[in-house]
Amino acid sequence: MAIKKIAVLTSGGDAPGMNAAVRAVVRTALGKGVQVYGVYRGYNGLINGDMELLNLRSVSDIIHRGGTALYTARSPEFCTEEGMQKAIATCKEMGIEGLVVAGGDGSFRGAQDLTERGIPCIGLPCTIDNDIACCEQTIGYDTALNTCMGMIDKLRDTSQSHDRCSVVEVMGRHAGYLALNVGIAVGATSILVPEVPYDFDRDILQRMKKTSATGKKHFIIIVAEGVGHVVEFAERIQKETGVESRATILGHVQRGGDPTVRDRVLASRMGHCAVELLLAGKSNRVVTIQGNRVMDYDISEALRMKKPFDIDLFRIAHDISI
Ligand code: F6P
Repeated sequence: MAIKKIAVLTSGGDAPGMNAAVRAVVRTALGKGVQVYGVYRGYNGLINGDMELLNLRSVSDIIHRGGTALYTARSPEFCTEEGMQKAIATCKEMGIEGLVVAGGDGSFRGAQDLTERGIPCIGLPCTIDNDIACCEQTIGYDTALNTCMGMIDKLRDTSQSHDRCSVVEVMGRHAGYLALNVGIAVGATSILVPEVPYDFDRDILQRMKKTSATGKKHFIIIVAEGVGHVVEFAERIQKETGVESRATILGHVQRGGDPTVRDRVLASRMGHCAVELLLAGKSNRVVTIQGNRVMDYDISEALRMKKPFDIDLFRIAHDISI
């Protein structure tokens, strides 16, 4: 029997482009005669029945906004069997026959659990970390890259004026994609990521000394969040090189801001695809993009995959930012 009612929620850390994805889901579904509930605050909204039916105008004026109009949360209660059963009971009560979950891999685990218990789910990869293995580019990543680049360009100005070293922490506890690509874009002298072990002397001090000898007087060192403390790094650099150093933690500003063209288009394509998958009777799929083609993967398979770190790009950064 054809699906008549679905729901959409955003879960986990927010990412610019989530709104564009929700808009695409709602407009695609309504266009096919399917009703859509917008569920608030991630899985918590399913547990508490905190949701409302959306219409075409409910998602007006959000395509250009960062954050998520549906709010988001990480839900410890949903990770318990009791919480999950409450969410399922809500779905049954509200007649929800399919769910689109916009989030990262933690959110997809929840989607997988729900699918196994009879609620068909489709995942939309939204995270600034770009750490979904089956997906070349996640929704939010491009915006975060540009946000970081803009902020570090500003740091470079003041770093250059003062002949200083700026040690900058970029988000990514377990993933260095943001750090690596931003590091290349801003011409960082060193880039430290969780995927590649580093040696403080070889990878920072010696590189600074080498470039100093050719006349360079200001430096940018990019450190992914998971690697270590930028304040300690800056103190040590100053002590051992004599170059005045400052630490900057970019923090959550990286997760905000208007989504770029790329993220808006990606989110729109993926959101559209998610509804088509549900209506085609598919479930437990994550929408991905590979070679500019929107595709879908089994969530369980996607969660087992490990994204290879781009070591060639890391080497390029090492070779040219000197
Ligand atoms: O997963 C996205 C992310 O922004 C990571 O880069 C970061 O480590 C984490 O979320 C921060 O989480 P929170 O918003 O809970 O501090």
